This record gives sequence, C-alpha cells and structure tokens, in this order.
Amino acid sequence: MTDPITAIDPGSGRRERPRAHLASDAAALDLTGTWRFHLSPTAAQAPAEAGEPGFDDSGWDDIAVPSHWVLQRTGERGSPIYTNVVFPFPVEPPFVPDANPTGDHRRRFDVADGFVPDGGRAVLRFAGVDSIAIVHLNGVEVGIVRGSRLPQELDVTSELRVGENLLHVRVHQWSAMSYIEDQDQWWLPGIFREVTLLARPSSGLDDVWLRADYDPATGSGALLPEIRGGYPVRVTCADLGLDTTLDGPTDRIDVGPVEPWSADVPRCYDIEVFNAAETVTVRVGFRRVGIDGDAWLVNGRRLRLRGVNRHEFHRTGGRVFDAEQARSDLMLMKRGNLNAIRTSHYPPHPTLLDLADELGFWVIDECDIETHGFGMLDWVGNPSDDPAWRDCYLDRVERMVERDKNHPCIVAWSLGNEAGTGVNLAAMSEWIHRRDPGRPVHYEGDHAGAYTDLNSRMYPPVEELEDLAAGIGDNGSGIDGTAAKLLDRPMIMCEYVHAMGNGAGGIDGYEAVIDAHPIIHGGFVWEWRDHGLLTHTADGTPYFAYGGDFAEELHDGSFVCDGMTLADGTPTPMLAEYAAVVSPIKLVLAVNTLTVTNLRHAGDTSDLDFVWTHERDGHPLASGSLTAVVQPGESMTVDLPDLDISARGEHFLGIAARLAAATPWAAAGHTVARTQLELTTPDRSLRSLAGGANEVSRRRRPERGEGAGAPIQLGEATFDATTGALLRIGNLAIGTPEVTLWRAPTANDSLSPASAERWRAIGLDRLHVRVTGVEMDETGLTVTQRIAPAGHSRALLATLRWTWGDGLRLDLTAEPVGDWPSTWPRAGVHFALPKGYERAAWFGTGPAENYADSRTAARVGRFDAPIDELGVAYAVPQETGHRADLRELTITGSYLPTLTIGTNEAGGRRPGFTLSRYSAEELAAACHPHELPVPGATHLYLDAFQHGLGSSSCGPDVTAEHQLWPRDFTVSVQLHVAG
Ligand code: GAL
Repeated sequence: MTDPITAIDPGSGRRERPRAHLASDAAALDLTGTWRFHLSPTAAQAPAEAGEPGFDDSGWDDIAVPSHWVLQRTGERGSPIYTNVVFPFPVEPPFVPDANPTGDHRRRFDVADGFVPDGGRAVLRFAGVDSIAIVHLNGVEVGIVRGSRLPQELDVTSELRVGENLLHVRVHQWSAMSYIEDQDQWWLPGIFREVTLLARPSSGLDDVWLRADYDPATGSGALLPEIRGGYPVRVTCADLGLDTTLDGPTDRIDVGPVEPWSADVPRCYDIEVFNAAETVTVRVGFRRVGIDGDAWLVNGRRLRLRGVNRHEFHRTGGRVFDAEQARSDLMLMKRGNLNAIRTSHYPPHPTLLDLADELGFWVIDECDIETHGFGMLDWVGNPSDDPAWRDCYLDRVERMVERDKNHPCIVAWSLGNEAGTGVNLAAMSEWIHRRDPGRPVHYEGDHAGAYTDLNSRMYPPVEELEDLAAGIGDNGSGIDGTAAKLLDRPMIMCEYVHAMGNGAGGIDGYEAVIDAHPIIHGGFVWEWRDHGLLTHTADGTPYFAYGGDFAEELHDGSFVCDGMTLADGTPTPMLAEYAAVVSPIKLVLAVNTLTVTNLRHAGDTSDLDFVWTHERDGHPLASGSLTAVVQPGESMTVDLPDLDISARGEHFLGIAARLAAATPWAAAGHTVARTQLELTTPDRSLRSLAGGANEVSRRRRPERGEGAGAPIQLGEATFDATTGALLRIGNLAIGTPEVTLWRAPTANDSLSPASAERWRAIGLDRLHVRVTGVEMDETGLTVTQRIAPAGHSRALLATLRWTWGDGLRLDLTAEPVGDWPSTWPRAGVHFALPKGYERAAWFGTGPAENYADSRTAARVGRFDAPIDELGVAYAVPQETGHRADLRELTITGSYLPTLTIGTNEAGGRRPGFTLSRYSAEELAAACHPHELPVPGATHLYLDAFQHGLGSSSCGPDVTAEHQLWPRDFTVSVQLHVAG
C-alpha cells in the first residue's frame, strides 16, 4: 500500500464530487468544538489503534477544532515555523522527515434517528486541514484528505450509526503536499476550518451554479443555471419577480431589467432554488466579465484594481477564520479605497467571499499551489512540470472553482503563486477555460503568456512597468519580444508596494503610470496584515512574534510582518497614503474652481458632499459644502466662492469629498478623497514665531559669568563656555542639539539593496563630535564642530549660530567634506529633552507620519496627539513618526516647562520633526518593541532632509528624486520655554 504521507494522488476513499458551497436547508451537524487530542513526534509513534471506537483516550488532552495545535499551549505542542521560500526540511519529494508531528484528533458525536433522510446519504465535510488528514469513522477508514485549504467531502453513509459515533482524524504536519504548499507564511498544522456532517437528501440539490449574466447594452439579466439534483426545480426571487419551474436542465432564464453587480455598487439578489427534497439559497450578482483585446471588462467597462493581497491570518488563531475580524478588515479596506482582493495564496474561507459579494470587491481567487522552494534549486524537480502531479493539481483547481463559482465578486481565477511554470499549471488553466469561460485565468509565473489570460507582474519598478506597457523587453520570460506580444492582453501587478514596516514609499509613481496606460489595470498591495503571532515573554509582556522567535532552524525573520495593518489590525499610515493616492474620486483645486473626476466603475458622486475649508495659519476662516453629480468616467468643474486672502498668514483651501450618508462600511462623513491648495501670496506669509520685528527689538548680547568654568548666558539660555553646549533655557534642561545623519533603519532600508549596511559602513551611526570653536560676539554665540566617524577622514563641518531675540534662535548649517560615498538617511539635529513629555501640538503636516515619497495623505494644518501616538509600533522598531514642513511645535507634559519651537524657512524649506520616547539608536538596537529600554529622555529630531522610504524590502529602492545624497543643510528654529 502507498504510504499516505508520500502519496501524491488527490486523496482517497469515497471522495465526493467537488461542488458549490451552498446554503441549504438540509440537516447538518456542526462538529467543531472540543475534541480529544494527542500529539506524537513522528508518524510511526502515533497510537496505532486510535481510530478504534474502543480506544481509551482518557490520557489525551482536549483541543479546539478548528485550530492549529502549535498555537495552543505555547511550546507544549511544538512551535510555528516561518519560512518564505526555503523548505524547512530536506528537499527530496515526495519524502518528508521522520520527525513528522502527528496530531490524533478524536470526537464522539450523536446522530439522531432520521438525521439522514430515507434513501439519503451522510457526507463528512472537511473545510481545511493542514497538511493531510486520515479519517476513520467508527473504526473504518473513510478517506484521506489532501489539499489543505480546500474542502473535501467524504461519503460516510455506510459507516454512520444512529446514536454514538466516533470520528478519528489523524493529521500529519508534513506530507508530499507540503512541497506544493510552500507559501510565504507560517507552517501551521491542524484542522483549521470546520468539520461538518451533512445529511444529503435523496434527489437533493447536490450542486447549483447560477451564472448571472448582465447585458450592459440592454440592462437585462439572465440566469444560466446548471443544477445537479432532482427535477422539477423551482427558482424564485422576490426582488426580480421571478418564479419559474424547470422540468429539466435549462440553458437560460431571462429575468429582464436588473441592477448590475460591481465592486462599487454590489447589488446582490438572493435566489431560492428548491425541489421536493431541498432548498438552497444562492446569492447572485448580475455582471459580465470579459476580455476585449487589452481591456479586462466588467459590464463593458474596464476594471481599475486598487487591490490588496489578503492572507488568512489571526494573531492568535493563525489561519483559523475569524468572521468578525474578516468583516471589519473588509470594511476598513473599503474605507481605504481598496476595491479588490487577491486571495493570496489559496482559496479563503468561503465566508470571506460572501463578504466580498456583499461589501463589493473584485476578487482574484487563487488556488492552493506554491512550490517556491524549488526555485532555489533552479526549479529541478518542480511538481508543476512533473506529470505525476497532474491529478493533484487538477483536483485542486476543480475543488476551488466548483466551491466558489457562484460568487459575483470573483472576476478571475488564479492558478497559484510562485510555482515556476509547467504542464500541470497549463492543464489547470485549460480545465478552467473549459469549465468557466466566463472568467479569465491569472498566474503571474506564466511570463511567456503561454496558457493564461492576464499579463501579471510583481514589484516592477515604475520604469519597467512603462517599458512593459510600451511592449519593450522579455516580460521576465527570457524570450525576446515577449512584452510586445503580450500587449494584446490586460496587465496587472498581482503584487506591488510592499507594505513591510515603514512604507512603502512611491505609491504615487505607480498611480501615475497606471493613469497613463489603460492596459495596466492596477495592482494589489503586498499585503493586508502582519502575520505576527501574539506571544508573551517570560514576565508576561505581550509581543508579536515573527520568524526566529520560536528558535526555528531556518527562518526568514520579520519578512512575515509586511502588512498595511499590524498583526492586531491597527492600520499603518500606509493605508491612509494608499487611500489618498488611489482614491477613485480625483479632486483638483484651482483658486476659484474645483474639478471632480469620478473614476469609479459604477455609481455617480451623488453620495458625496464636497466640503471646502479656508484656513489661515491652520485656523478655519470659512467653509462650505457643495454637490457635484459626476457620472463614472466623467469630470465636472464647479465654481468655488471668492475667498479673502488679504490677511497676513498662510492661506490654504482644502476640499474633502465626504460620504453624505452611512454605507455598510463607513459612517456618514467618511472622507473618500481630499486635497489642498496653498493660496498664500509669498509676501504675506507669517512666521508666527520665527523672528521678525520682535526678535530684533528683544535681541540680547551673550554674557560670560565670572570665574573659571562659568557658563555663557544668552537671554534666558545658558551655554557651557568651553564646549558651547546648550545647557538650559529658563527652567528647561533642554540638552544641546547634536547634528545627526542617522535614523533607525526601516525594513525598506534594511533589505536588498541594503542602504542601512552602507550607512553603517561609512559610520553614520557612530559620529564623533569635536568642537572647533566657541565664539561670542555682540549679537550671539557661534559654535563650530567637526563631526566624523572613527576610521575615516570624511567629516561634516557644522556651525551652530545662537542668538536671543524672540526666544532662543538656532541657525545651524552643515557642510560635508571629504568622500561620502552613500546616501544619508537624514540630515538634522537631535535634542534629548527631559523624559516625561506627553503631548505634541503642531502646525505643519499631518495627521500621520509622512516622508518625501509618501505624503499624498498629508496636509498642512494644526494637529495634536499624545507622543506615544506619533509613531507606529511596527513589529520591528524602526524609524517612524516623521512629519515634514513643520511651522510650529509645542511639547507639553505635567510638571515640565512647555517648549515651543517655531521654524524658519531655509533654502525654501522648513524642517520636519520626529518626537519619540526612543532615540534612533535605541530603536535600531531593538528587534521587538518590548526590547526597547525604559525611556530616559524625550527625543526630538528636526530634519532638514530625510531620505525617502522606497519599497526595497521587496521591490524598487527610493527613487532618485527622493534620495538624500550628502549635501549642505540648514536648520533654523526659534525655541521658547514657558513655565
Ligand atoms: C512575493 C510572494 C509573496 C511574498 C512577497 C514578499 O514574491 O508572492 O508571497 O513572499 O513576495 O513579502
């Protein structure tokens, strides 16, 4: 007999034909809940008789089903393993290690007399088991289930008894299937989706497919039914006024005028289908998907995908589906202007697709195949190209398509991810084309376009995208001219803008290229959520664990934390940035007009209020609201009132498109798009705190105290006479500013090409200061410094000019000398203020952190926030919280003097600021937030420049215009202390 662990057939036993996941009135018994459980370190050690009803499991433990055993009772049942590409075991398919954790699960359940109707059948459904399950019912082996993330039903009619039954499911962590389930995620064994016993009535509705077609030319809908079950079948829908009885298979039921389904207006209709034995309800949406040349059309209009890759992940449950989390995630996606989901990299829990139908998302449903680890072996032995695996591949695609075929949200099927290329993938595609010609087939790895319909790329730099849209290059296929040939088909980015840590920067660059080239139908951010697992240190401190935290032999570190939301669902600023960049409502302001462009697929803009605000120095002066009803694909320009901008100060006109009424995913007032226009006339801007007449009239001379070591006094500021170090201003021991070039590397700084390595190599994280002069004159104090790393002659020559006018003014200039062969992360000054400050209020950009290549969501205004909320607690501490273009910042804390900093323009720029309880060095040294030290200071950074963010943790580096190359810089600020 073949070893079930190494077999590569699709499964065995009385496997049912794949079919749709239907809402039926037939009886069902939910077998989730508490089961008995025993873990063996190897398959050989698993208790031989565990499937026998009489087996004594009193010495076993309990386990929840669904669950992953490694996520229960931390450590006692093994640990999760994170690898991206590499297999965590020797590669010798179909063999797996002897050390193959094996979980025996047992469950007793009662079946009532009559549960299975006369002549009917009993079917046991496993919705998801990782990696394989060997199933016994009442001591009889009823089947082997493979294909972790897909349902498998087994006919157990002859084994099921009225009264007590004993179900035994043996799950092996590793099997031959592990070779084709090598997705970039945690390896998590277990029965992680529901187990259900279904009573199947004789002549019931075993399968129902209601293709719901929409004719955009006539506005009419039709159902194209394919029903497996006993006729006659009645089909009704109150909303459609439909009530028809089919005496036998029928091609088409015309339903007349219907409202079409789209991601923007997700109109669904509940259709009841019933026969004498069973009633099922199918939720349909009428829409027609097609490809016309390079256009991917739904209802005759080109798609524009503002998408995200979504894994199934919960911080405690792993891949156990959490319906509440899924709904709130999808609502958050909608609020973030996301309209598409790629179910990376396997079919999701069926409920996810119900949610996508209901809330409105274009979905690419992806099959559970990834063999990426073979890529490290030049794809030698890749199952995708080995005919022996063909049935297994075909079985998976069949189970996916049959399960999910009724969903209007699915606009393409995807064969899998990073599985090389080969005959089995081509066979899957052929199968889909035959079975469901109404949806295109996607697979990114088909670079030559040999068997799929969409040209899909991952992480192309913007320039490459432009080349591809122009037909230049080989499209990654190695075959010259391929890009030109593929111009006859729609193009997407199935992954782009890698959301790991702080970033990605440069989203707007992609948007511009997508706008310019209709052949590019958009892309999917990688990815939605960090896969950090909630874990506790020995003293009970919670943290999100990533690769390496479970002492894995091989792992890929924090690469598993690369979401637009943290593991607990907190959105990172990238979500707001993405929303701002891709908003389908484009707003362009001119002095007296607003132009609204509606890029939605469907739906005019009558759901939006356009609210304008005129602000001077961040304070509202006037506001109003207007309406503009713009049809999809169209633009409209409306007049704005005349604004009085005569008063001195910075004038900004802002406009926000807000939901006029609540939707299923947002409250009334939610902002869908916004923009701002500066109206300030150059001669009228007010430097509220920075110099001017007051400064001159209150100017002070520096005074030197009596005796050796006596400090220098300049107004209320005190300086060390020898070093020129600022000691205090009034009651505030402010500490002297240090010129700095270092930031705690972001994930994008740290991975290839690793800027952080180069920065460290040239010593940016370890600069030494030598004071070269301290000079007093009539109007102030000048301190000069040479700042340089050990072992090098390169240096930064800095001049700190201190004057007292309206508060203490610092004019810092710095000039690099010698050889500086790399970019800098930042160019600024660092103040270590006393610890204990609590809040910041600022006039500048916000509300969230923003960087040179990530500031579409930022606007100029007045904001305030607790210091702890200025930065993001990324899974790996890193640079966070920078806000560019600061005008004024006030820092407060109980019992501490209030510090206000006004900035001056220098070289046409104002500094940005970062305020944090941690210094760049402290952030850089910690691998998890809980490793950060107890704060010893409040760290204020004022940066003349910061390097952009880029996307090089997986994708292109910071673009040239946002790179910070060594240069002269100036920071000019005015410091006020009160209290
Ligand atoms: C892609 C892959 C994803 C993920 C991503 C990087 O190549 O398809 O699964 O690994 O890179 O985070």
